[in-house]
Amino acid sequence: MHKDVVIIPRSDLETQKDYALQVRAMPNRPHTYHIVTFGCQMNAHDSENLAGMMEDMGMTAALTREEADLVLFNTCCIRAGAERKALGNIIWLKEIKKDRPDMLVGICGCMMQQEGMAAKVLKDYPFVDFAFGTGNMYCLPEYLHRLLDTGTRQIRVALEESTLVEGLPVVRSDAAKAYINIMYGCNNFCSYCIVPYVRGRERSRAARDILAEAESLQAEGIREIMLLGQNVNSYGSDTGDMSFPQLLRALEDAGIPRIRFMTSHPKDLSDELIVEIARNKALCPHLHLPVQSGSNRILKEMNRRYTVEHYLEKVQKLRAAKPDIGLTTDIITAFPGETEEEFGETMALLETVRFDSAFTFIFSPREGTRAAGLPGHIDEVTASRRIGRLIRLQESITEDILKSLVGQTLDVLVEGVSRRSSRQLTGKCGRSISVNFRGDASLIGRIVPVTITDTGSNTLRGTIEGE
Ligand code: SAH
Ligand code: SF4
Ligand code: F3S
Repeated sequence: MHKDVVIIPRSDLETQKDYALQVRAMPNRPHTYHIVTFGCQMNAHDSENLAGMMEDMGMTAALTREEADLVLFNTCCIRAGAERKALGNIIWLKEIKKDRPDMLVGICGCMMQQEGMAAKVLKDYPFVDFAFGTGNMYCLPEYLHRLLDTGTRQIRVALEESTLVEGLPVVRSDAAKAYINIMYGCNNFCSYCIVPYVRGRERSRAARDILAEAESLQAEGIREIMLLGQNVNSYGSDTGDMSFPQLLRALEDAGIPRIRFMTSHPKDLSDELIVEIARNKALCPHLHLPVQSGSNRILKEMNRRYTVEHYLEKVQKLRAAKPDIGLTTDIITAFPGETEEEFGETMALLETVRFDSAFTFIFSPREGTRAAGLPGHIDEVTASRRIGRLIRLQESITEDILKSLVGQTLDVLVEGVSRRSSRQLTGKCGRSISVNFRGDASLIGRIVPVTITDTGSNTLRGTIEGE
């Protein structure tokens, strides 16, 4: 375990549970809460834990933020746009608070963990009652207790963000699918990325804790788990516990029908993992493998520590081992100094690999990261032209891939009814593509075989037997 990592003893969590009980008994406590989540699955899962703590304090979920007694914004700062969106929402709430002065407003998540942010909230957002960072979110009951007890704002962002907490309460947002965090933080320091600064050092949970969580989810009827980590491939390298492939094997034995994971850093995608991906019956045939760029010079500047050739070799090995696997990726364009030619190399890579889909981003400088100080800023017009070209190319590739699936019968985990009609169901196939089909709402939460008949944009349409 890295020396910067702080394991929070169970007794600290017991103390927080005591605070929660005390809040429950306070006459001036809020009765309803609403959490607004920005950002990735990590934040979405943190929000499930935050909801668990709110319910421990006796609160129930309010459907809208306008009617809640307490509103908490769980923020993201991966790009400037994410931060603007969070701040815009928080400021909007200031207006609502004029009519409802008793409403409590809090901010947490990655944005709060940035240097100077706590001071900014203290000074510029006086209507924010409490704030905390990613490392000390388990202390929410204590902060709320103090706020209610003393009436003083609680803006508490700990410098120590690399904490490891076990046993937080949780309210899961889905009856069939669940997130399991297997590790926290990141040590990779890709030159553009803020995550290592706001999520702390890489730290893996003990395998026995993960397996116990999976077993209890299986007993509750969860059909699919998504293992979360910024770089799951290096799971266990800090603890010397199981390796990631060994963990996948142990999880298969826990009996959950579907397992997914994200994110895999290409540099750490080992042969051992590829063998396990091919062997493991519970693993879905989908891998999210962010490539970021098709230019070796840019990849080096990004500190990604692989080349295009390495990446293509891994793709080829993966497809040889598991021919039906669907790949998805992340791309950043307009990285400082990206030439037309280098951009062309990214376009060429998309054509070569043929991903099922790609998340495309314009480089956004993040204060404190190395890339923010690099020369060669790409102007907005060029950047949007480049991302437009990437999106159009990917759309045509996606369309071809979807068409190639027509006629196949795919296992679909039914997630819900579509907005249009209660007889129209929607779910995901193993490759993580949305599939719509007619069927009875009683199928929700089950895995059913669907024969693909047609395609929509980014979705498949199909039929099930008997419909
Ligand atoms: N840990 C994951 C992803 C983290 S963030 C990984 O390594 O793949 C998700 C995606 O956001 C990244 O893959 C990257 O494509 C994008 N991203 C991160 N920082 C960015 C920045 N400063 N500007 C634009 N896109 C960024
Ligand atoms: Fe960011 Fe790179 Fe870590 Fe992913 S691997 S979170 S992109 S630093
Ligand atoms: Fe955003 Fe934090 Fe995730 S910065 S992308 S919410 S790890």
